[in-house]
Amino acid sequence: MSREVVERLRERLAVNREGGGQDKIDRQHAQGKLIARERIEQFLDEGTFSETDALVEHDCTDFGMNDRRIPGDGVVAGHGRVNGRPVFVFAQDFTVFGGSLSLANAAKICKIMDLAMKVGAPVVGLNDSGGARIQEGVASLAGYAEIFLRNTLASGVVPQISAIMGPCAGGAVYSPAITDFVFMVEDTSYMFVTGPEVIKTVTHEEVTKEKLGGAMSHNSVSGVAHFASPGDTECLALIRRLLSYLPSNNAEKAPVVATDDPLDREIPELDDFVPADPNKPYDITKLIRWAADEGEFLEVHRHYAKNIVVGFIRLGGRSIGVIANQPAHLAGVLDINSSVKGARFVRFCDAFNIPLWIVEDVPGFLPGTEQEWGGIIRHGAKLLFALAEATVPKVTVITRKAYGGAYCVMGSKHIRTDFNFAFPTAEIAVMGSQGAVNILYRSEIQGADDAEAERAKRVAEYQELFANPFVAAELGYIDEVITPRMLRRKLASAFSLLQTKKDSMPAKKHGNIPL
Ligand code: HXC
Repeated sequence: MSREVVERLRERLAVNREGGGQDKIDRQHAQGKLIARERIEQFLDEGTFSETDALVEHDCTDFGMNDRRIPGDGVVAGHGRVNGRPVFVFAQDFTVFGGSLSLANAAKICKIMDLAMKVGAPVVGLNDSGGARIQEGVASLAGYAEIFLRNTLASGVVPQISAIMGPCAGGAVYSPAITDFVFMVEDTSYMFVTGPEVIKTVTHEEVTKEKLGGAMSHNSVSGVAHFASPGDTECLALIRRLLSYLPSNNAEKAPVVATDDPLDREIPELDDFVPADPNKPYDITKLIRWAADEGEFLEVHRHYAKNIVVGFIRLGGRSIGVIANQPAHLAGVLDINSSVKGARFVRFCDAFNIPLWIVEDVPGFLPGTEQEWGGIIRHGAKLLFALAEATVPKVTVITRKAYGGAYCVMGSKHIRTDFNFAFPTAEIAVMGSQGAVNILYRSEIQGADDAEAERAKRVAEYQELFANPFVAAELGYIDEVITPRMLRRKLASAFSLLQTKKDSMPAKKHGNIPL
């Protein structure tokens, strides 16, 4: 008797493993995509996957669905380990009804999300889905809404990561959008609320699905996605790498990784790295890598709003979130997209106890009607709000320009930054010398016999007075003007001291960040 039961279980699990059948598996492979189970196996530490709800089936009877039941119902869910730590994972199986979301498979996803919240472990979703299962109607929409609720409740409690590994249409895009990081696979993944056919009908606009919602469209244009990978395997490896920088939940700190890189390592290259000429660009990621353990920097949102750089490094093995102006792109100016990109990253780090290193070389906010009408005031305020509310350890280093409102925003002392360092090349002022002189000395310049000579004289005076870190240092707004080669040492000592920092927000339900 018991042997029969075991045999029945074996048979049913075998049906589950076949998914939608060999021809559909072959089709998936032919497109260069792995199937759900292969993805999970590649993603998790070897042999650690435990599947839940392998035998769950839908209970839809319309549209002939009574005869079309596949154990598992189009999603593989469970838990395993990544770098030894527990992680919950689900992978939609495109071979079963196009990975579409039924009420039953939504319940499987909700079940692991609920457990992840109790256990305090990240949730990783590997998405490959045609959206709401059309045959189920509103029941499927209910399934989505149950997931969205859990995404929202889990936000800031456990890290949530979404990989888009196939078409993701309709409801399939909103859950990823609420999660912390969205990964996409080039050439095989798409995200859109409505696809090209619907767009053509409604607006007569013709667009390919790649251009509409392909990996690079969302990585570089919309900013919906944070990472792009050339294939499934690379994408899964990158998620593992990201997880290594993150704590399992908001009550923990990120794991400490052993390093041989000495914390007192000097960086001689830095002494003359920042050009004295404020108009000369340089690549801030070089400076970040020089300061980081083993030169490693995991850049997030690399293709989007390149005038700001965000990502993770380690110092003495501990995770640090970096937010840096990028003088090599649009002179590092703050605009709508870079403000939103920076703000979202800062809030993630603050929610998950990851200290922040702010690297500043910013000429100000981008002027112009496009930015003003687009709401730069509101969007720039997001970055200000995010950095001001962050209570994790915060250290700012001004390498060169810190002008105007951008000075206040980029981790100034006044918004409770713990350590503010400046290179000797720092220029901390209300605005750049040319702009300031034009306003302050307009009549003197216009009335002078030699207007250009007068302007040059005034610019030189202004630079002498303000194009340095000393006025701010005299006022205590800069704690220390540091020798650039000492950067790593200074950061390491500051963040080490700040490990026991405690700060808090006034009691409130939640703030009202200017969305
Ligand atoms: C049920 C679906 C399905 C769906 C695909 N399939 N999407 N079944 N519900 N939503 C099935 C197909 O019938 C097919 O079944 C199999 O999956 C593979 O689909 P194909 O079309 O052959 O694959 P492909 O050519 O690769 O195209 C993939 C696709 C396309 C781009 C995703 O299937 C598509 O456009 N699907 C519909 C997308 C959509 O509009 N979804 C509803 C969104 S509304 P067989 O048996 O033939 O293999 C929504 C509302 C939620 O989600 C809102 C919440 C906020």
